[in-house]
Amino acid sequence: MPAMRETVLINEVGARDGLQNQPVHVSCDDKLRLIEALAAAGVRTIEATSFVSPKAVPQVADADQLFPRLPHADRIAYSALVPNRRGLERARAAGVKEIAVVLSATDTMNRRNINMSLDEARAVSADTVRAAVADGVRAKAYVAVAFECPFEGAVAPARVLALSESMFAAGAQEVVIADTIGAAAPTAVMRLLRECVAQFGAARLSAHFHDTRAMAMANAWAALEQGIRKFDASVGGLGGCPFAPGAAGNAATEDLVVMFEQCGYDTGIDLERLRQAVALAGTLTGRAVGGRTTTWLRAQEEKRARQVRTV
Ligand code: COA
Ligand code: ZN
Repeated sequence: MPAMRETVLINEVGARDGLQNQPVHVSCDDKLRLIEALAAAGVRTIEATSFVSPKAVPQVADADQLFPRLPHADRIAYSALVPNRRGLERARAAGVKEIAVVLSATDTMNRRNINMSLDEARAVSADTVRAAVADGVRAKAYVAVAFECPFEGAVAPARVLALSESMFAAGAQEVVIADTIGAAAPTAVMRLLRECVAQFGAARLSAHFHDTRAMAMANAWAALEQGIRKFDASVGGLGGCPFAPGAAGNAATEDLVVMFEQCGYDTGIDLERLRQAVALAGTLTGRAVGGRTTTWLRAQEEKRARQVRTV
């Protein structure tokens, strides 16, 4: 009997982090089609939308309609981003069972993203987490711009540790260490996540990388080596942040799946089906989407198609 493969969990954020940044309007029905395609590929956790001000992010103005319609809610853990109590109320009304608050590591980034100072953002995030948990809702907290802020530059690891600690103290079950603009390098990831894992334990942490400097894969591997087994990723590498200039797309789900599976980890995701979700994401956004494995995956598909024809 082969040894059981260790699981790496991919939390798909394309429908939120990905679509929030697209200039084209993607309808609620089309978002559901994309999520259905991701579900068919075996994705088990999905951040589906955010309950933020529709003025701030018009792309997610349909969150209240979208969430109750999400498919396969029995086997897929859906979450939604909420910035404050108002967002939590809306999320609860829509049936959300897991929320994510977003606390940026710097004052300027919080002001640009959620119109709060760092202190306000910490207080509001903690309050939202407390209220969610009291209501039986699972809560996680993003610590955004955890390595570098587009406005304030390098972020000290001690600050990220302190903010994470405050979110755990408020009752968050998980903290997501997020390289929102894709500025981190593996050495920094290794250092910060080593400390985070030592202080909080790997089981309560996940990591979120963007591929701006082509280091998302290297960073994910560095995080894995520190014990992290849960990663955010976005189908086709969709993504960016409208409030963080210079951020490119997220780590592409298909790239992480290729890397982790080839290294012997089980993601539960079927690459062929995932490719269909990538293609759909491209159709819906009108963009050429796809991670760094695109050329290779396409060649594999062509090879399979030739084999089918010769059989
Ligand atoms: N959902 C919907 N509407 C909300 C809301 C929420 N979660 N929170 C506040 N609002 C509404 C208020 O009701 C008010 O509406 P009105 O103008 O019709 O009276 C308006 O937004 C302003 O409220 P206020 O509390 O003053 O918020 P603000 O203008 O300071 O904005 C946020 C704060 C957090 C609501 C806003 O900055 C935001 O939604 N940011 C999200 C950014 C984001 O999603 N970034 C990407 C992900 S990291
Ligand atoms: Zn992001």
